[in-house]
Amino acid sequence: MSRSGRPTDDKPLPPLYAMTQGGVETVAADEITRDLGGEVKKTYRGLAVFRVEELTPAVLSLRTTEDVFLMAWGSDTLTYKAEDLDTLRTWTAKKPDWDHLFKLHHKLRPKTKGRPTYHLVCQMQGEHGYRRADAREAFVAGLAGKIPHGWQYSNENAWLEIWLTIYSKTAVCGVRLSDRTMRHRTYKLDHVAASLRPTVAAAMARLAGIGPGMTVLDPMCGAGTILAEVIDVAGKRSRAGRVRVVGGDIDPNAVFVTSQNLQQVGPADLARWDATRLPLETASVDRIVSNPPFGKQLESIEKIGPLLEAAAAEWDRVLKPGGRAVLLAMEHEGLKRTLVARGWSPARALRLRLLGQLCVLSVWHKPG
Ligand SMILES: C[S@@+](CC[C@H](N)C(=O)[O-])C[C@H]1O[C@@H](n2cnc3c(N)ncnc32)[C@H](O)[C@@H]1O
Repeated sequence: MSRSGRPTDDKPLPPLYAMTQGGVETVAADEITRDLGGEVKKTYRGLAVFRVEELTPAVLSLRTTEDVFLMAWGSDTLTYKAEDLDTLRTWTAKKPDWDHLFKLHHKLRPKTKGRPTYHLVCQMQGEHGYRRADAREAFVAGLAGKIPHGWQYSNENAWLEIWLTIYSKTAVCGVRLSDRTMRHRTYKLDHVAASLRPTVAAAMARLAGIGPGMTVLDPMCGAGTILAEVIDVAGKRSRAGRVRVVGGDIDPNAVFVTSQNLQQVGPADLARWDATRLPLETASVDRIVSNPPFGKQLESIEKIGPLLEAAAAEWDRVLKPGGRAVLLAMEHEGLKRTLVARGWSPARALRLRLLGQLCVLSVWHKPG
C-alpha cells in the first residue's frame, strides 16, 4: 500500500479537495485532520487539499466544507494569460486517469436508474486575459473522449459532475463527491431572513471548544443553525456528559422555526426573549456562539451600536469567568471596542464575505 492511500484496482488514491466558505479553510483543515484522520497538504482561501488512507462515506459527513472532490489535477502557477487555455486543455486531457476517478466516484455515489447523467461546471474568479467561456471551452476540449459513451449531459441533478475552478493563479479540477445536502443540510426545513450558512455555523461551533457538561448559548438564534451545529459538535465531543444547549430570539417566529429545525437534530432549551435582558443566571453559561443582526438588517444602522452594547453587557453577565464566545458580526470594530472594554481578550479573527458583506468571525476569552 502506498503512503498516498489504499489501492483501488492497484492504483493509489488521488488527493481530495474541499471547498469552503472563504476564511474558514483553516477550521475545515482542522476538521479534516482531527475528525476524518486526513492529511492536509495545502490550504488556499476557500480550499483545502488533503489525502485520506481510504475513500469512505465519512468524507461526506464533514460539516465545515461546502463540497468535496476527487482531484483530477491542480495548479497554482496559472499565468493569467491566454496561454493558460492550452494548459487547461492539455492537463485535463493528459494528467488524470479519468476511468479510475469515475470508479472511485461510483464507490460513494452508486449509479441511479436509467442512463447515467453528467454535468460540467467551470468557475472562474479574478482578472484573467481570457473569459470564463474560453476556459470552459478548453476544459470541454480536454475532456473529449473521456466521458463513457451512453452518458447523457444534464443540467439538473446529474449523477456525476466534473468541476474546473479557477481562483486567480490557482486552478483545481475534479470529480464532485458531495451533493447539495453537504452545504444545505437536511435539517433546514424552515428559514428566517439572514439565516447563516450551515458550514459557517459549523466552523463557529468547532471554534467554541465545547466539552462535556457545558452549557452553550445562542441568544439571537434566528432559524437555529448555530444551535443545530452546536448539538452536532457536542454529540461528537462529549460522550462523557451531556451538553446543555440554550437558545432564544426576540422574534417568536424565529423561535418557532428553530424548534422545527431542531426536531431532527436534538434537544435544546428554547425561549422567546430579549437578548439584552436574558432570563438566565449570572455566570451560568460556558460558551456563547452567536451572530447578532447585521446593521443593514435593522431599520436604521444607528440601532446596531446600542443593541450590541446592551447585548455585550448581558453576554458578560451570563458567561462564566474563563468562558469563551464565538461571534460573527459585520460591525466588528465596534464589537471589539465593547468587549475589550469589559476585559475580554481576542483569540482569533477570521475575515469572511457573506451575502456580499465583509464580516468577522471572532473568538473571545473572558478573563478567569
Ligand atoms: C443574523 S440573525 C441570526 C441568524 C441565525 N444565526 C441563523 O442562522 O438563522 C439575528 C437574529 O437576532 C434576532 N434579534 C434581534 N434583536 C434581538 C434581541 N434584542 N434579542 C434577541 N434576538 C434579537 C433577530 O430576530 C434575528 O433572528
